[in-house]
Parts: sequence; structure tokens; C-alpha cells
Amino acid sequence: MSPPDGLKRVLVVDDEENIRHLLLVVLKKAGYEPTAVAGGEQALELLSEQRFPVVISDIRMPGMDGRELLAEITAREFDTYVVMMSAYGGDEVAIECMKAGAYDYFNKPFTADEVVLLLRKIQEREVLFQENQRLREELDERFQFDNIIGRSDPMKQVFGTVTKIAPYKTTVLLTGESGTGKELLARAVHRNSDRAAASFVPINCAAIPENLLESELFGHARGAFTGAVKAKRGLFQEASGGTLFLDEMGEMPISLQVKLLRVLENDEIRRVGENKVESIDVRLIAATSRDLEKRVAEGTFREDLFYRLNVVHIRLPPLRERPEDVPLLIEHFLARFNRKFTKSVTGVEAPALKALLAYPWPGNVRELENALERAMLLGEGDQLALDSFPPQLRDAAAGGRRRRADDHDLSIKRRVASLEADLIARALEHTGGNRTHACKLLEISHRALLYKMRDYGIDVPARSGGGS
Ligand SMILES: Nc1ncnc2c1ncn2[C@@H]1O[C@H](COP(=O)(O)OP(=O)(O)OP(=O)(O)O)[C@@H](O)[C@H]1O
Ligand SMILES: [Mg+2]
Repeated sequence: MSPPDGLKRVLVVDDEENIRHLLLVVLKKAGYEPTAVAGGEQALELLSEQRFPVVISDIRMPGMDGRELLAEITAREFDTYVVMMSAYGGDEVAIECMKAGAYDYFNKPFTADEVVLLLRKIQEREVLFQENQRLREELDERFQFDNIIGRSDPMKQVFGTVTKIAPYKTTVLLTGESGTGKELLARAVHRNSDRAAASFVPINCAAIPENLLESELFGHARGAFTGAVKAKRGLFQEASGGTLFLDEMGEMPISLQVKLLRVLENDEIRRVGENKVESIDVRLIAATSRDLEKRVAEGTFREDLFYRLNVVHIRLPPLRERPEDVPLLIEHFLARFNRKFTKSVTGVEAPALKALLAYPWPGNVRELENALERAMLLGEGDQLALDSFPPQLRDAAAGGRRRRADDHDLSIKRRVASLEADLIARALEHTGGNRTHACKLLEISHRALLYKMRDYGIDVPARSGGGS
């Protein structure tokens, strides 16, 4: 078994010529590409120029000794395994080195087998590490786009569309109920475009009085209206080279809709109270929780603008249509609030999880986020209990099947997933968290139970006897 290319280069550090020689011979024979130096200073010099995945260093050396070298390697964060050779100080010093970050040690005198075996151990560990890294990256890739979490089919579709359209200057229309992540997605589109270095400028059309919205967007000349004592740049200019996010687009007054359409068609704006136009380079993302088509039919939204905005339309599904995202989101927010509040909550107790899965989440992800924040602050212990959650959630848990959010959902996959999660939560509840007993009730293997628990983010408090 010869070492993989990434692990071939070994740096040997020893002041004794014969030890260096011996190691060079042994390592070369085993397929490595060793280099040897006589002291810590030389080793550091080499390490700052080249990468050595493995360093084998003597401890006692004149000048910079092995311990000092190890400390430097750790401090400078060289990505390398350090193996110590101990002769004089014995095991104690070697163990001290391991506490300081060395991977392992061997005693002098050593046999060739001993050294090679140790390197093979490093090799195995590195392969494992990289495999884990790859799996983790794959996981991240699949379930997350930027900070947006989701593994349900509709969310995967959203990620796919965003990846495709983000780089182009096309207008994007985001629709979805309140709290489904429209602004989050708009920011992700901006960050994943070549405009990322310029500004992302959000404006809420519903929050600004109708008579001010135009000057807010396009700027105004001095004296354009009462109170306009100075000329002012508009948000379109602020967003120059970047992205303008028009939130609550459905609330834009119809008079302004005409002007906006002209801006989009000509890439030009005119400040209020001015005749000359200026050209602009702004990408527009519009969002609304309203049904724009209905508004068009009613005559409160201009059809031509609607079609102009609707070039790329991304619909964010309500949370109740994607219950399989709930456990992932819980995990995501727990991690975030653990950091924010320096807590170490590890999960949600089974009855609480059941409630979180059954609740229809009219406020969508924002409501879930708030519920978890509240529970983290109220709750004690490392598992969130049902009584830390708002009353409407507890009702949902009590209401059971009748009020399940997905009762009208006919997707077998989704219904089965939420049924499974529900059964597992109940089985664990029945057994006081004992998994060995729970898998018998569920009539699945212990292993399958662990996988499913992980998939659904179901956690069991250690104190109630995990049974595994
Ligand atoms: N898929 C998701 N992953 C992680 N966090 C999310 C996700 N969706 C929404 N959030 C979080 O939920 C909250 C609400 O999201 P956001 O403000 O983007 O919703 P919105 O659709 O703009 O809502 P509104 O229509 O009420 O303005 C934010 O804190 C956001 O970070
Ligand atoms: Mg919003």
C-alpha cells in the first residue's frame, strides 16, 4: 500500500545525522518522499515555503527544540500531522507534546515497521477525515443555499432556479406568504451575482407614504416640493451597480407603477422636479405576499408591469407544504441561538417536536424562528420542552390528526415522512426515550431508527436512558 500523493511528503527533523539517514531510507522504501533537516529553525523555514502533510521531529535538539517547533506549527496553523521522537525525556514529555497538538510519538530506538505503521495510521485517519468533509459538504450543498435551509422538493427547485438566474441582470419576482424567506432569497440572489460587491438596497413600498415614494425611489431636485430644501439621491442611485429590492410590490400606487415600468424599459430615471434623465444600472428584485394576478384582474396592478416583473418568478412555498424542512430548520435555528445566547441546547423533546411538526405555521419560517428563540430563553436544560412553546403550538399537539396541516396534501412522500416522524416521536414518548424499546414498537431495526431520527432531527435526552 503506497501512500496517496497528498500524504507522500514527510519532513524529518533531527540533529543526529544517522537518525536522519535511517529515516530517509525507511521512508523512501515505504513509498514516501522524505526531506530531512537538522533543526527546528530550518524546519520552520521549509514549512513556510512548502506543504508537508507529516512532520517527524526529535524532541531534544540544540537551538529550537521539538516542543518549540510544535508550538510554532500550531500557532501558525500549518496543516500538518506532527509526530514526535522521544529518547531522553521519555514518555512524559512525549505525552505533553500530544496534549500540545502532536498527533503521536515513538521512542528511539525505533524499528522501520513501527514508523511505517504510524504513518499508515495517519493515512487512514486522513482518508476518513476527507470522506467526512466531503459528506458534510455534500449535505450542505443539498440542504442549503447560502443561509437558506431546505431539503424539500419545492425548496430544491427554488435553489436550482436561483443558481441559474442569479448571475444575470434579469428582474426577479418573489412571491410567497409572509415569513417564507422572500427577503432572505433576494439577498442570496444579490450575493450570488457579480453585483455582490455593490449595494443591496431594500425598500418597503407599503411602509412609505404614497407621496414620498417617488422621490424616495428616484431622488428629487432642490425645491421640487415643499420641504425639499436640498437635492437628494434616490434609492435607484444608491443601488447603482447593485440590486434594488422592492418589497411589498403589490402595495405600489398605480401612478408610480407607470413610472417604474418606464425605468425598467429604458434603464433611466428622472428625479422629481427635474427634466433630464440619468441612466442607471440596477437589478430589480420585487417581492409580494399578494396575489398579483388577482390585483391585475381587479385593476389595481398594471398588467404590463406585471409581465415585465414576471420574467423570472420564484414562488416560496409556505412551511406547511414542506414539513420535512421543519427538523432542518429547527437544527439551524438551535445552532444559531446557541451561538447568540451562548447556550448548548441539543434538541427538542419528543412531545414538543410532535407539536412543531403538527402545527400549520401560518407565520411560516419567521414564526418557527420566533417560537424557538422564545423556547430557548424560557427553557431550562439541554432539550426544549413543550411547555416552553406558545399555547397555540400546544393546542396543535393536543388537536392531533384532525387539525394536521397537511390533511389536504396528497403527496404520498410528504405524508409518509410526516407520519413516520410522528410515529417515531410517539414511540419515543411511550418508552421514555428508550430507543431499544422504541424500535420494537415501531417494528424497525435499531439502525433504521437511528437513521430516521437523524433525518427527522429527533433527539432524545440522554438522562431518560437512550438505551444505545
Ligand atoms: N429557508 C429558510 N432558511 C433559514 N431561514 C429562513 C428561511 N426562510 C425564512 N427564514 C428566516 O425567517 C425570517 C423571515 O424571512 P424573510 O424576512 O425573508 O421573509 P419574507 O418572506 O420576506 O416575509 P414578509 O413577507 O413578512 O416580509 C428571517 O429571519 C429569515 O432569516
Ligand atoms: Mg420581507
